[in-house]
Amino acid sequence: MKEFKSFASDNYAGVLPQVMEALQKANTGHARSYGADEITQRTRALFDQVFEANANVYFVFNGTGANVLSISAATQSYNAILCADTSHIYNDESSAPETFTGCRFFPLTANEEGKLTPQIIKERLIRSGDVHYAQTRLVSITQSTEYGTLYTPEEIKAIAHVAHQHGLFLHVDGSRFFNAAAALGCSLADISSKADVDILSLGGTKAGMMFGEAVVVFNKDLVEHIAYKHKQIMQLASKTRFIAAQFEAMLQDELWRKVASHANHMAQQLQQVLARYKEVKITRPVQANALFAEIPRAWYEPLQEHFPFYVWKDSTHEVRLMCAFDTTAEDIAGFDAALQHLAK
Ligand SMILES: Cc1ncc(COP(=O)(O)O)c(C=O)c1O
Repeated sequence: MKEFKSFASDNYAGVLPQVMEALQKANTGHARSYGADEITQRTRALFDQVFEANANVYFVFNGTGANVLSISAATQSYNAILCADTSHIYNDESSAPETFTGCRFFPLTANEEGKLTPQIIKERLIRSGDVHYAQTRLVSITQSTEYGTLYTPEEIKAIAHVAHQHGLFLHVDGSRFFNAAAALGCSLADISSKADVDILSLGGTKAGMMFGEAVVVFNKDLVEHIAYKHKQIMQLASKTRFIAAQFEAMLQDELWRKVASHANHMAQQLQQVLARYKEVKITRPVQANALFAEIPRAWYEPLQEHFPFYVWKDSTHEVRLMCAFDTTAEDIAGFDAALQHLAK
């Protein structure tokens, strides 16, 4: 049978040719280490341009590291973080966030779309000034969310407003930030600096880099300790140029928008296919590159043989199908054929 792409995760995909080329180009001679090289400097300037801000940018190896660095820059170990109960920082980063920040994480029940709202946050703003209670210091949201849904710029601004009114910082886990901006048809700045976000974990890996993410700091109050934390949590790469070079390729001429739009478009195509099967129920709005659906349990195995995917919630047979920059119409057609076979 033909080899199809997996729908398990966008981090199953390989590396964009443009990124590979940038890595090759960066691989000449010696360069200053720990981010003092020319490529990193150039890329930082590019970040300022695309985020329309005078930002501080720290390159890291992975998304967990980006989140840990972002949160630790904004907190002391007696602080508490408010996040969605579905969030990656709460469910999928082992205890790294707690270990490296010392903070307590309060999971708030997210709405059906996996989003927090100002109201949900306000209800948990309690016991400020009480030494017996971990002091709330930061709200973390994910864009696009763990359910593949989107916060609009207005929704982010509203959350930032509540956070700031109560002396909290707003962090965005932007592991799939490029997919979000592409789907919203907005700039990267519209859903970060211009929406009053304080600190962003910007994902590169899922969009088509080999590895590497960036912490983008918009609020200068968060820069005092961050360089030290960057080193302390083992995320300061001596050969930073190879992470920066990949981001330079992604940001130049908005390559990110092209590749993320494609992945998003593939998720829409997948939705059209799945909507035709009465045995399948699409469970969340398909807004970025993820699709959630309930499918008959007996279908898991035969489908996964050729199209690996994650079972999200076994009790309701809800699965997650994720499209990547290299998902093709043929992959979707192949999946459709497999479904037809099972639905007979
Ligand atoms: C929402 C979200 N945040 C962060 C991450 C980063 O994880 P990693 O540490 O595996 O790069 C992921 C990866 O799956 C994710 O889905």
